Amino acid sequence: MADDKKSATLSLNGKEHELPIFSPTLGPDVIDIRKLYGQAGVFTYDPGFTSTASCDSTITFIDGEKGELLHRGYPIDQLASKSHYLEVCYLLLYGELPSAAQLEDFESRVTNHTMLHEQMHFLFRGFRRDAPPMAIMVGVVGALSAFYHDSTDITDPWQREVASVRMIAKMPTIAAMAYKYTIGQPFMYPRNDLDYASNFLRMCFAVPSDDYEVNPILSRAMDRIFTLHADHEQNASTSTVRLASSSGANPFACIAAGIACLWGPAHGGANQACLEMLREIGTVERIPEYIARAKDKNDPFRLMGFGHRVYKNFDPRATVMKQSADEVLDLMGIDDNPTLQVAKELEKQALADPYFAEKKLFPNVDFYSGIILEAMGFPTSMFTAIFAVSRTVGWISQWKEMIADPQLKIGRPRQLYVGAPKRDYVDIENR
Ligand code: CMC
Repeated sequence: MADDKKSATLSLNGKEHELPIFSPTLGPDVIDIRKLYGQAGVFTYDPGFTSTASCDSTITFIDGEKGELLHRGYPIDQLASKSHYLEVCYLLLYGELPSAAQLEDFESRVTNHTMLHEQMHFLFRGFRRDAPPMAIMVGVVGALSAFYHDSTDITDPWQREVASVRMIAKMPTIAAMAYKYTIGQPFMYPRNDLDYASNFLRMCFAVPSDDYEVNPILSRAMDRIFTLHADHEQNASTSTVRLASSSGANPFACIAAGIACLWGPAHGGANQACLEMLREIGTVERIPEYIARAKDKNDPFRLMGFGHRVYKNFDPRATVMKQSADEVLDLMGIDDNPTLQVAKELEKQALADPYFAEKKLFPNVDFYSGIILEAMGFPTSMFTAIFAVSRTVGWISQWKEMIADPQLKIGRPRQLYVGAPKRDYVDIENR
């Protein structure tokens, strides 16, 4: 990684400091500032990490200018069209596409961990019926560490492997149970003869009193949504998982931290916020009003599903998602979906507007995903929970990579302190 020939020179208070430069396989060079404080007594300042690489990683690469997303080198559009979610999980976790035998073994391991400890059903019953599924997920996933003690020792590679498979396997069961609980229906146990996406759809939409046939079109669309959200390098929730794990906390607790971070509307919560926005706009005639609001500095409103920290071009996931939305609605015989019409026209008008062009704001993955999920029958409150199911493999892969690194250090940022200088305590009667 290090390129001995390259370095940067920092000139500070009449002294020069040589800083090594590392060259990645893809992407911009990075300046190594790890020894800067020791040598020069200064910190760097980068809130929001806009120019800071927090780790080295071999998993995912994004070229924001080109609008390219690669998992272990493979473009996301190829994975979305030719592969499927569990194969992509294998790729993210182990670094290479599996052979047929490896895939069969992996699928069988995931399938055999889909059930939850029966005692966990009581945990769900402690929540209010109107609890958002994401609130339930944060709690229940964190509680996994109270049930699976035999896979919380992070120093043991075998336990790390078991925890990884358990997490990928159980997340759909937890999300489906969170949904069933909020609508007052019985929990549906997983069925191990079904593929990952079909099993999830069945656990969400079947009831014990009726037969349920999974629609293969919806199952394929579900699998594609999982695939498109599987990983996205050092995004906010993944960085949260890494930071939480850097202290040595167990993987279940760390993934719960990732779910909490994902919940926010600037991150995974955008899919719910976007569909609610599209519904609120309602008709194409009202689009200019909302575009004007998004451009107004005095209005906090933003076009949800638009813009990205890294992509300054089309989010490649959004392109596949848009095709999927068309296919799913078409195959379901829905040709006059007003939300899809508003979304397409909003995209067209925003892309033609100089404000969005100048700021390089394009539709992101969340712009079209909600339309597909709604067509499948999911309420908006489940959208981010489904994102969490999909992203679990990304969190786990990045966690495994980090824990296996012998140079692992606890993440401990420094700060630019701008508070009061040292002062003496004042007794209450003198304040
Ligand atoms: N609508 C209107 N203006 C926007 C938008 C938007 N969606 N996004 C960014 N801007 C403007 C922003 O006002 C700012 O303008 P100025 O430079 O005049 O102050 C400029 O663009 C840069 O914005 P920023 O907030 O500094 O950029 P960021 O990289 O910190 O934020 C973002 C990225 C995704 C949080 C932001 O674009 C946003 O809030 N988008 C809407 C929420 C959304 O769709 N999030 C999902 C992201 S993709 C999935 C995921 O990560 O989970």
